[in-house]
Amino acid sequence: MSIAEAYDVPVSGRPLVPPSPPRAPENMGTFGRIMAMRDSVIASWGPRAYREDIIQARFFLRSTFIVSRPDAIKHVLVDNYENYTRTAPGIRVLRPILGRGVLIAEGRAWKHQRRTLAPAFTPRAVATLVPHMIAGIDEAINKLKANADRPADMREAMQRMTLEIAGRTMFSFEMGRHGTTLREFIMEYGEQLARPHPLDLLLPLGWPTPQDFARARFRRRWTEFMKVVMAARRAIGKNEGAPPRDLFDLLDAARDPETGAAFSEEQLRDEVATMILAGHETTATALFWALYLLALDPATQDEVAAEARRVMASGEIDVERLEFTRAVIDETMRLYPPVFLIARAAAAPDTIADLAVRKGDAILISPWLLHRHEKLWRDPDAFIPARFVPGAPEPDRFAYLPFGVGPRVCIGAHFALVEATLALAKLVGAFRFDLIDRKPVMAVGVVTTQPDHSPMFSITPRSRVG
Ligand code: HEM
Repeated sequence: MSIAEAYDVPVSGRPLVPPSPPRAPENMGTFGRIMAMRDSVIASWGPRAYREDIIQARFFLRSTFIVSRPDAIKHVLVDNYENYTRTAPGIRVLRPILGRGVLIAEGRAWKHQRRTLAPAFTPRAVATLVPHMIAGIDEAINKLKANADRPADMREAMQRMTLEIAGRTMFSFEMGRHGTTLREFIMEYGEQLARPHPLDLLLPLGWPTPQDFARARFRRRWTEFMKVVMAARRAIGKNEGAPPRDLFDLLDAARDPETGAAFSEEQLRDEVATMILAGHETTATALFWALYLLALDPATQDEVAAEARRVMASGEIDVERLEFTRAVIDETMRLYPPVFLIARAAAAPDTIADLAVRKGDAILISPWLLHRHEKLWRDPDAFIPARFVPGAPEPDRFAYLPFGVGPRVCIGAHFALVEATLALAKLVGAFRFDLIDRKPVMAVGVVTTQPDHSPMFSITPRSRVG
């Protein structure tokens, strides 16, 4: 079977519709759904979830609401956001690696961290980090060039590249010394601790689950490792009087604009870990899916390559001019949002779209469902980057949420978009990507939206493409 037969590849102007996981039967039952969720939350959703505004289900003593109505999402994530906190399973899974970092902090502690961190993520601050990004991307391209005649695992290559970029933007040094250990930690965590055990979903935070003991052991080793890496960065010293050279300098110099307080050493460590973790896997996932979609849609891939050539003709690269490449990234994150689920727990009773919410109820807002919702998008399953080119009608602000929305919107959104757009343009400018594997790749929702297997690609340097 050829790739064209295995996939619904675009012919005669019809857009690509990549394969998506079968929708769960509606009569699956609670137990069946919990078991399905362990493998992939996406696989636990049935056809109704793609059609209805809000689905309410009883799940033991609590209600769970899957909310896909834009005005109700605005209520939860913007208007009444203080009533909706991180959930116990989310904290359980993330705490061993993020500690007290901003991603899982709440209330006053979160506000202090968020406003202290914000200046390090403005477009101006991110612009100072671009040379580190380019160095990480060029290194990845050189490695791929050296192996261009062999099948390439682009998922792994993207994970390595974004980790390298996370390391360089954070610490200014190449990750050669620490990258392998960092990758081992992340893989160990992802494979063994990140999947919630059914008890993680049921027990309150104060009650340790069997996995929590393993998570605490992991946390001790991880903290020791982070101390070593931070000591290595401190040994390089500060560039006295010169502008900050990396994110570490920016975070180290950060002061709360209201109180003037700096982060303690422990807090700084948790923020550093948070930024490395929150940033690299999500961006790698977006880039993997973008390459996969472009391999299935060669005409769109050629358009990206042509834009990259045009924009890079002068030797410089201006991310603002990569408008089509950016549209491909936006459309990729519509179909494959790296964060497929934004979960909240109600701190107090409330009403959402006329439905009574009780304290402790779970509110699930799924970018995966929202971005493929039949009421919100035309051709929701088709890959159409033209939806996002400048001048196209803007999607509803609360229907397209790859980075969330409201006060807890992703702090690294601009950073991620710059990195992903630059990387895609440079990669596709350097190589033509084709899929070798015929087995359709399905999205699996575990922490991030992962492929169910890593397909192999053939990569041909563009200089050799006729
Ligand atoms: C394509 C890449 C990325 C995607 C899709 C993504 C997605 C998201 C989403 C959906 C949220 C909001 C979650 C919620 O409301 O519960 C979030 C929060 C966050 N992201 Fe990202 N992110 C990406 C890259 C990054 C990068 C590069 C960084 C840092 C360098 C970062 C740091 C954070 C942090 C710290 C938060 C928590 C913010 C808070 O709670 O105040 N992310 N991200």
